[in-house]
Amino acid sequence: MKRRILLAIGMVLMISVLAAAQGKIIIGHRGAAGYVPEHTLAGYAFGYALGADYLEPDLVMTKDARFICLHDIYLDPTTNVEQIFPERHRSDGHWYAADFTLAEIKTLSVHERCRPNGAPYFPDRFPVGKSRFCVPSFAEMIELVQGLNKSTGRNVGIYPELKRPAWHDSQGLPMEQALLDILDEYGYTKPGAKIFVQSFEQTSLKKLRDLGTKLPLVQLISANWSFAGMWTKSGLDQIATYADGIGPSKTIIEKNPAFVNWAHDRGLLVHPYVFRRDELPSKYSSLEQEMEQFYFTYNVDGLFTDFVDVAARVLAKE
Ligand code: G3P
Ligand code: CA
Repeated sequence: MKRRILLAIGMVLMISVLAAAQGKIIIGHRGAAGYVPEHTLAGYAFGYALGADYLEPDLVMTKDARFICLHDIYLDPTTNVEQIFPERHRSDGHWYAADFTLAEIKTLSVHERCRPNGAPYFPDRFPVGKSRFCVPSFAEMIELVQGLNKSTGRNVGIYPELKRPAWHDSQGLPMEQALLDILDEYGYTKPGAKIFVQSFEQTSLKKLRDLGTKLPLVQLISANWSFAGMWTKSGLDQIATYADGIGPSKTIIEKNPAFVNWAHDRGLLVHPYVFRRDELPSKYSSLEQEMEQFYFTYNVDGLFTDFVDVAARVLAKE
């Protein structure tokens, strides 16, 4: 009798975990950055294979107005640009992607993210200087995902982020219409297309709306005090007028778990960033535990992670 009761309780628990997991998504942050250098085709393919529902490229623009997958407006933290084009930095010591054509950028090698002194940011990740990786154009990234969708029969989405659109404007490289054009070219403007578009810059997201896009837009929200206005109910009211979701720093939710409900009450999805085994907050004993807390207790709808496989295990998708 006792065994049957325990079995029934186990079943109920399993069903409730599966029900809670339904609809929750895994976003491969910069590809599969925990395992393969960020923003490389190899990294996106690996994130795809590990079970991502969406893959995230950060986007910046080249001198010839092409989107490339890169986190910074500079090339130096993740490529060997200083060796190939030693003279081409600006007075602040950075090599800006906007000063190079796509063809020039294609001659560079990508490596694990390094600090200005050359030390790897995450020492236990892929070794710096080994193998050969390139900076992908956004078009190449899309073609990889769409190609894998065809060959595997899956339907993995893309989750592009416009990086520093106001700065790009100041360089004569407006991003918003160019983004809508390339997404249209690759079919992401059709109903049901699997895509979210994200940015930290409210003006840019509003501009995308004003340009007539119906694509799901996600307002990123930093834990930096300059974003404090967005941590409030009235801030979320504002966001709900132009966006479909928020991408908050996970620390905002950790400090105020009700923030998730506030967003849900306004019809906004919640996709916090970023979950990393090698940057685990001290209150958690494992990345699995942190993800379980966010998916099932804080009830977020998805999360950005460098470790897609861990999220897949937590959602029992493996
Ligand atoms: O886009 C979500 C998250 O990636 C934001 O932070 O700096 O990694 O682009 P960052
Ligand atoms: Ca990002």
